[in-house]
Amino acid sequence: MVNDHKLLEVDNLSKYFGNVIALEDVSMFVRAGEVTCLLGDNGAGKSTLIKTLSGVHKPSKGEYRFDGSPVDFDSPRDARALGIATVYQDLAMIPLMSIWRNFFLGSEPTKGSVPVRRFDIEQAKQVTRDEMGKMGIDVRDPDQPVGTLSGGERQSVAIARAVFFGARVLILDEPTAALGVKQAGVVLKYILHAKQRGIGVIFITHNPHHAYPVGDHFVILRRGRVSGDFTKDELPLEQLVSMMAGGADLEALSHELESAALTEQDEALAELAHNVEEVGGDLPE
Ligand SMILES: Nc1ncnc2c1ncn2[C@@H]1O[C@H](COP(=O)(O)OP(=O)(O)OP(=O)(O)O)[C@@H](O)[C@H]1O
Ligand SMILES: [Mg+2]
Repeated sequence: MVNDHKLLEVDNLSKYFGNVIALEDVSMFVRAGEVTCLLGDNGAGKSTLIKTLSGVHKPSKGEYRFDGSPVDFDSPRDARALGIATVYQDLAMIPLMSIWRNFFLGSEPTKGSVPVRRFDIEQAKQVTRDEMGKMGIDVRDPDQPVGTLSGGERQSVAIARAVFFGARVLILDEPTAALGVKQAGVVLKYILHAKQRGIGVIFITHNPHHAYPVGDHFVILRRGRVSGDFTKDELPLEQLVSMMAGGADLEALSHELESAALTEQDEALAELAHNVEEVGGDLPE
């Protein structure tokens, strides 16, 4: 399923803010159908890197290629037009606006014809309901304000929206940071879902126990430089954990996911709990 095609690639990318070196000589790539986890301490340059990939910042140096061709974005709109969708932590959603309006907010069809040229409200609501349904979320009332959804559900709306509007690369900046275990599990499930649809996912997190069960490829930033680039085979969880100080207790996470899977009757969540547990089994006592 995973091929060798590099959807997005940067070579020797640097980004300076005046005297501040936010990124220096960063080379990395993202493949379709893979989850690339971007890890590193506070201030390591993760957000700066994804903002550069998303067209918010221009690189100070280096090359950026998309689909093999050099790109030079003037704005996030340019990146979105190529199918690079970014979900920031604050989500850029409007809490008082309905779910369906948020779903269509600021999104532009990237290819083909999206069935909402002439804005048809009933159709928009139906699309929202259908797309959320595909992700396993039952939206009873698309008119419900987004602000009344849980944090995990809000992340899910943002991810579903990006997938629907034809994202080829989905960039998530700490989508699980503010979430409890069960909701984090839901978001991790959508990350897998996006990956299965062939999207190249960049997942930023501080939590190795969130990164490991879904990640295929791990890029570690340290003070603006790449300090490690591993495939999952090359990187045992214990090493990942020791590279990222802290993190939740793995066994506890697996148990909590498991009980959430039971109450939710959710197979994907159960599978995730199993994956987490397997990873834990590999750890030394
Ligand atoms: N617009 C800016 N102007 C000046 N300095 C900036 C700007 N944006 C980021 N920086 C600096 O660049 C460095 C990297 O910041 P960045 O936000 O990318 O880190 P991060 O890895 O996302 O951290 P965190 O995990 O805390 O979100 C920091 O030292 C930060 O102060
Ligand atoms: Mg950040």
